[in-house]
Amino acid sequence: MRITLVRGDITDQEVDAVVNAANSSLLGGGGVDGAIHDRGGPAILAACKALRRTGYVDGLPTGQAVATTGGDLPAKWVIHTVGPVYSPPLDRTDFLRSCYRETLRVAADLGVRTIAFPAVSAGVYGWPVADAARQAVLGIRQAAPSSVEEVRFVLFNEEVFDAFRKALDDGGGVRVSPDA
Ligand code: APR
Repeated sequence: MRITLVRGDITDQEVDAVVNAANSSLLGGGGVDGAIHDRGGPAILAACKALRRTGYVDGLPTGQAVATTGGDLPAKWVIHTVGPVYSPPLDRTDFLRSCYRETLRVAADLGVRTIAFPAVSAGVYGWPVADAARQAVLGIRQAAPSSVEEVRFVLFNEEVFDAFRKALDDGGGVRVSPDA
């Protein structure tokens, strides 16, 4: 599995699946969530509402992941995951790693080959960027081998891009793509 870094907007990515940094309601929000729903159109929200009526009556729990249609996005699927809100001294690290592990498990079930992740929890949820990057890399590395050939981290600004590049530096085999 190849890991790549891209500086850009996750809704532009031509991949099989785009990962949404959602909240447990699955009914939209700001940041990545807002961008995906805005660009992806009403079909995504309709699919999320259906999930709330059926499997996730109380919402999607933190650290879990669920797929919907990609709507009008270039991607076929959106995989929604709910990151933990940063709140020391609680240690919610494994919830954050779980977002990446569980998303890859859902992706593998769909036969996804290429997938784009944002920096989950590193925005509104306040997770320190350097550790958000470290947990993302650890979470990806903890996932079982699968159909996924490329994991693309799509970072919205220089600070987060640099944090992910540092987190991957010791991992080797990383191709840093030009700005999207
Ligand atoms: N493409 C890529 N990255 C983006 C985009 C985008 N279009 N928009 C924002 N980001 C970046 C942010 O700069 C941050 O680095 O994604 C990272 C995650 O930020 P958030 O979207 O705020 O996600 P998160 O911190 O997990 O908070 C989730 O915010 O939008 C609400 O409904 C959402 O309640 C949920 C919470």
